[in-house]
Amino acid sequence: METKRMLVDNNLNSEKSYTQAVDLLNNGEVVAFPTETVYGLGAIATNERGVKKIFEAKGRPSDNPLIVHIGTIEEVANYIEEIPENAVKLMDAFWPGPLTVIMRAKKGLLAPSVTAGLQTVGIRMPDHPVALQLLRKLKKPVAAPSANRSGKPSPTKAVHVEEDMLGRIPLILDGGATGIGIESTVLDVTVNPPVILRPGGVTKEMLEEVIGEVIQPTKSQQALESTPKAPGMKYTHYAPNAPVQLIDSNQAVVRDAISKLKNEGEKIALLAPISFENLGADYFFPYGDEGDKEMMSIKLYDDLRACDKTDATMILATATSTDGVGAAIMNRLEKAAGGRWYNE
Ligand code: TXA
Ligand code: MG
Repeated sequence: METKRMLVDNNLNSEKSYTQAVDLLNNGEVVAFPTETVYGLGAIATNERGVKKIFEAKGRPSDNPLIVHIGTIEEVANYIEEIPENAVKLMDAFWPGPLTVIMRAKKGLLAPSVTAGLQTVGIRMPDHPVALQLLRKLKKPVAAPSANRSGKPSPTKAVHVEEDMLGRIPLILDGGATGIGIESTVLDVTVNPPVILRPGGVTKEMLEEVIGEVIQPTKSQQALESTPKAPGMKYTHYAPNAPVQLIDSNQAVVRDAISKLKNEGEKIALLAPISFENLGADYFFPYGDEGDKEMMSIKLYDDLRACDKTDATMILATATSTDGVGAAIMNRLEKAAGGRWYNE
C-alpha cells in the first residue's frame, strides 16, 4: 500500500486533504492525524472493519482498548450511559484538551474492538485545529491510539508516523510537530474518587482544583494490581532499540557513569538538561533547561527515536521530580527503561 503524507496548513489548499481523509475513513480505512499530544491513528469508532485495521497496522494486542475522539462535548451523550457530574465539570474545564475520561459505555453502539470487551470507554476532545477540523467534517467519532507501532515511542511528528507506518496505512495528515509531546491523562470517573490510569498533560493538581480528591496510584500500588486498569500500561512501551537506563540528574554521577560504561565498550547516548552537554557522552540530546518540564515532554519521544538513528548501545536518561507534568514524564521514562536505573 502506498502511504501518502499530505501537509495540512491554513496557507495551503487543505480542503482536498480533509476530503480525502474523510472519504478514506468513511470507506473503513485508517488515517493518521495530529493532536495536541501525539499523532493518532484513526478509524470511525462505529466501524469494526476500520477499527480492526488500526490493531493490524500497529501490531497492537486486541485486549487493549482505544480512545474515542469527538469534535463537540454534546456528542458524549451519544455513547455514554450516564455522564457523572464530575465528568461534566472536567469536560467543561479541560476540553478540548489532553484529558481522556473513562465512563460507562452504552451497549452495542461502538465497534466491539474499541472497548476490547470492557463496559467502559475513554473519550476525549483533542485540542488541535487539524484533529478538530477532521472530526467536524466527518461528523463521526474517531477511535485512535497513538500512531506508532506497538512498543515504540509515540509519534510527535508526521515523519515518526511515516517511519512506523510506511506501507501500512494510506494517509498521514501532516500538521507539523505536536504541542505537548506526551499522551493525554486517562482518568477513570466510574469510581469515587476518580483514579488516574495514565498521568499526562492535565495533572493531578489541575484535576483536583475542579473536582476535589483524585487518586494517582504509586508505582508499587500499580504493581500490586494483578490486572492493570488501563490495559495498555502493562505492555512494553516507548522503547528505542538500545536499552534505556534512568539516572539521577546529577552531573558528577552522570560523568562517572559515562566514563565507566565507555570503558566497558558501550556507546552512550545521553538525554539530559542542556547543562549536561560536556560530560563525555557519544551522543547528546538536550531536554532543554534544567527543570523545564514542558520542553522535556515536547522533546522526549523525538529524542528517544533519534537514538535509533545512532549506533549508541546504551541510553542514559536523567530523571525529574514527579510534581506537575513530571509524573507523566517519569511514567513514560520508567516504561522506556523497563524500570531499570543505572547503578555502579
Ligand atoms: O493523547 C492521547 O491519548 C493519544 C492521542 C492520539 O489522542 N492517544 C493514545 O491512545 O495515547 P493509546 O491507545 O496509545 O493509549 C490509550 C490508553 C491505553 O493505555 C489504554 O489501555 C487506555 O488508554 N484505555 C483506553 N480505553 C480504556 C478503558 N475503557 N479503560 C481503561 N483504560 C483504557
Ligand atoms: Mg500508545
